[in-house]
Amino acid sequence: MKVLVIGATGGVGSRLVPMLVESGHEVHGLHRHPEQAKALQRQGATPHAGDLMEMQVADYRAAVRGMDAVVFSAGAGGAGEAQASRIDGDAPEVMVQAMQAEGVGRLVVVSVFPEAGRARQVSDTFEHYMACKKRADVAVARSGLDWVILRPGTLISEDGDGAVTAARVAPYGDVARGDVAAAIAAVLERPWLRWEAVELTDGDVPVGDALDTFRR
Ligand SMILES: NC(=O)c1ccc[n+]([C@@H]2O[C@H](COP(=O)([O-])OP(=O)(O)OC[C@H]3O[C@@H](n4cnc5c(N)ncnc54)[C@H](OP(=O)(O)O)[C@@H]3O)[C@@H](O)[C@H]2O)c1
Repeated sequence: MKVLVIGATGGVGSRLVPMLVESGHEVHGLHRHPEQAKALQRQGATPHAGDLMEMQVADYRAAVRGMDAVVFSAGAGGAGEAQASRIDGDAPEVMVQAMQAEGVGRLVVVSVFPEAGRARQVSDTFEHYMACKKRADVAVARSGLDWVILRPGTLISEDGDGAVTAARVAPYGDVARGDVAAAIAAVLERPWLRWEAVELTDGDVPVGDALDTFRR
């Protein structure tokens, strides 16, 4: 499968790219800094330069053209509200338009667990980020594409052990970035898994088995 990974250089994306390459996929990774191109190539991926703060619909269309699937795992990561608006809110919406225009059907989006702000004082910036993620989720869910929205709990910078809790409704918790990457890879191996929002935390069920519980 030809897969474009948006956020390929991030904590989740940089773990996902080698997993997909290892599984035999042709991986294309978006990057915004020139030096990241070599790192992507070393991982066996094809670099595609682009800055989500600058890209227009035509740039998104060029990036997705000829792909079988797109993974959106970029995030502004506390850079500010303007960046969150653009990257966490607008970018998945524009991606949907580009995929519809180019006839690319499969989209896996990394969003956020709805309870991420529960039981603590959150900043206006965090609240704005959550609203952007929700806005993007709505656009994806209404898109008619073969979408899956993953909603991980608090991300931990570890490779993980391949065991998770994945359910339509799950208790809040942490999850290793490597396990999120493994879940994305497993979603791509399951074309029947679509039109689902999957809440994802660390757990004790192998990621593939956890996703197979979604089979109706
Ligand atoms: N932090 C949490 O606890 C948490 C919880 C749930 C969900 N999430 C979401 O999970 C997803 C993956 O998280 P992560 O930890 O992998 O994030 P990360 O390590 O911060 O990586 C973010 C990715 O987005 C890219 N990006 C940021 N701004 C960009 C721009 N202007 N143009 C192009 N690419 C840009 C980054 O590129 P560079 O390498 O160039 O910076 C990087 O590849 C994000 O959507 C995040 O919002 C996070």
